[in-house]
Amino acid sequence: MSVKTIDLHKDYKVGDNIIHAVNGIDLEVKDGTFAAIMGRSGCGKTTLLHLIGGLDRASSGKVIVNDNDLSQMKDTALSRFRCCEIGFVFQKFNLINEMTVKENIITPVLISKRKVNEDYIAELTEVLGLSDRLDHTPLQLSGGQQQRVAIARALANDPALILCDEPTGNLDKKNSEEVIALLDKIHEKYGKTIIMVTHDPEIGAHADIILRIEDGMLI
Ligand SMILES: Nc1ncnc2c1ncn2[C@@H]1O[C@H](COP(=O)(O)OP(=O)(O)OP(=O)(O)O)[C@@H](O)[C@H]1O
Ligand SMILES: [Mg+2]
Repeated sequence: MSVKTIDLHKDYKVGDNIIHAVNGIDLEVKDGTFAAIMGRSGCGKTTLLHLIGGLDRASSGKVIVNDNDLSQMKDTALSRFRCCEIGFVFQKFNLINEMTVKENIITPVLISKRKVNEDYIAELTEVLGLSDRLDHTPLQLSGGQQQRVAIARALANDPALILCDEPTGNLDKKNSEEVIALLDKIHEKYGKTIIMVTHDPEIGAHADIILRIEDGMLI
């Protein structure tokens, strides 16, 4: 799935100040590319990722995901598109602790009212090394395992585009290496387009292209 932004802006008004969190970004990520977004804290990486994924609306400019102009979509169409076509991995996992690992993973499938493809889920959890943890709850898992559950959930609907915000941000070196190795594998094995925000140059080096952001602009 390809992603293009055209003169993309996101402004936040705080008191009398306007913060230009995303300040005129034109970028293109071609189908099947693994891209990393890097830059200092506060430069606008999360804001940009949320605009690309339709979690937030732009102040002006366009986000085009495979010929779909997100700014032209109504809320219901946008949430359906998001749920079916895009997988999110959030920095803080955002797992539901009252549900089992398996239930967490298949949530996007149930929300989009699709049938659970048990073979695909079994393959996915095998690849992610979670097969023997499906009946556990997230709090019974290590941080790295929880992050892998979040990745499995992001892939459960077989989305063509995967957006990850600091997927290794809460992990130690060993777990970070495991998670990035998995993203590499997912990129190669399933040919997904991946856009990943990271602070870590070693993690960023796994991507095909690096998009550097400074003060809301691409440099
Ligand atoms: N809801 C909001 N209201 C007002 N300002 C915001 C809001 N969200 C973000 N900002 C501001 O927009 C700028 C970009 O924030 P963003 O979260 O995108 O940064 P980031 O690059 O992801 O930083 P980090 O690496 O620390 O996660 C920051 O100056 C931030 O203070
Ligand atoms: Mg951020």
